[in-house]
Amino acid sequence: MEIIDGKGLANTIKEEIAKEVLEIKQNKGKIPHLAAVLIGDDPASASYVRNKVRSCDQCGFQSTLIRKDETTTEAALLDIIQGLNEDPDIDGFIVQLPLPKHINEEKVTLAIDPKKDVDGFHPMNFGRMALGLPSYLPATPFGIVQMLDRYGIETSGKHCVVVGRSNIVGTPMSILLSRKAKVGNCTVTLTHSRTNDLSAETKRADILIAAIGIPNFISSDMVKEGVVIIDVGINRVDAPEHKRGYKLVGDVDYDAVAPLASHITPVPGGVGPMTVTSLLLNTLKASRKEVYG
Ligand code: GUN
Repeated sequence: MEIIDGKGLANTIKEEIAKEVLEIKQNKGKIPHLAAVLIGDDPASASYVRNKVRSCDQCGFQSTLIRKDETTTEAALLDIIQGLNEDPDIDGFIVQLPLPKHINEEKVTLAIDPKKDVDGFHPMNFGRMALGLPSYLPATPFGIVQMLDRYGIETSGKHCVVVGRSNIVGTPMSILLSRKAKVGNCTVTLTHSRTNDLSAETKRADILIAAIGIPNFISSDMVKEGVVIIDVGINRVDAPEHKRGYKLVGDVDYDAVAPLASHITPVPGGVGPMTVTSLLLNTLKASRKEVYG
C-alpha cells in the first residue's frame, strides 16, 4: 500500500510555480494576481481562504483578500464582483462558498467573468471542460487528476466509481475521468444518495473517489483489494482529546480500508493541499491568457 502524499506533491508543484513566477519577474512580465472574496466568518471557509492567500505568497503571486461580514447584501457582493471583473490588474478571483443563505450562489457564479473564473464554476468553463476545450478546471477534480498523473496511476480502461454528485467535485470528476485524455479513458459510475445497493457499485471500483461529506462512510466491506482510494472528505468530528476540540477525518474509514488499497490519500494531507495548487495553476493560466486568448 502506498500513501499518496498530497501535501508533499502540492509543495513540489508550488516550487515549480514559484520558479515560473521568478522567470516572469526576470522578464519584467506581469506577476499573477489572485483575489479572494470571503463573506461571513465560517471558520472552515476562513481557514481555506487564509491557506489560499498564504500559498500565493509562497509562489510569489500577488493576492488580495476582500473580507465582508455576514450581513453583506447580494447587491453589494455583485458590485464587488463587477469591480473585480473590470480591474485589469486582477487575473483571476474566487468567491468562497458557501455563502450566507440570503445570497443566491447561482447568481453570484454567473456574475463572474468566465475569463477570471479560476474556480472553474461558471457554466462557460464547466461546458468547455465537458467538451474537452481549454478551460479552468475546478480545483478538487484538477488536483485529483494531477495526483493520479504524478503517481503514475493508470486510468485507461479502469473502472472508476465516484461517490457523490456535487457540482464542484463528483459531477466534474466523473466527466474528467471519462474524457479521452492522458488521465482519463475510465469507465465511470457516478453514485449518489439514491443509488441502489451502493456497496455493489463501490466494490467494482479500481479507482474509488469518495466525495459525500459523511465521516468514515466508506468501510472495508465496500471495496475490493488493490483499489486506489481518493478521499475528498474533510469532516470535522468532535475530539475532546485534541487541543482544538475536533479532528479532521475523511469520507473513508482510513484504518480499516488502507490495508486493502494499492494507493490511498490521507486526511488531512491528501486531496486538500492539491486543491490550492490547482487554483494557483489556474491563476497562472489566467495571467498568461492561455484559456481565452
Ligand atoms: N468551498 C469549498 N470548496 C471551494 C472551492 O474550491 N472554491 C470556492 N470558491 N469555495 C469553495
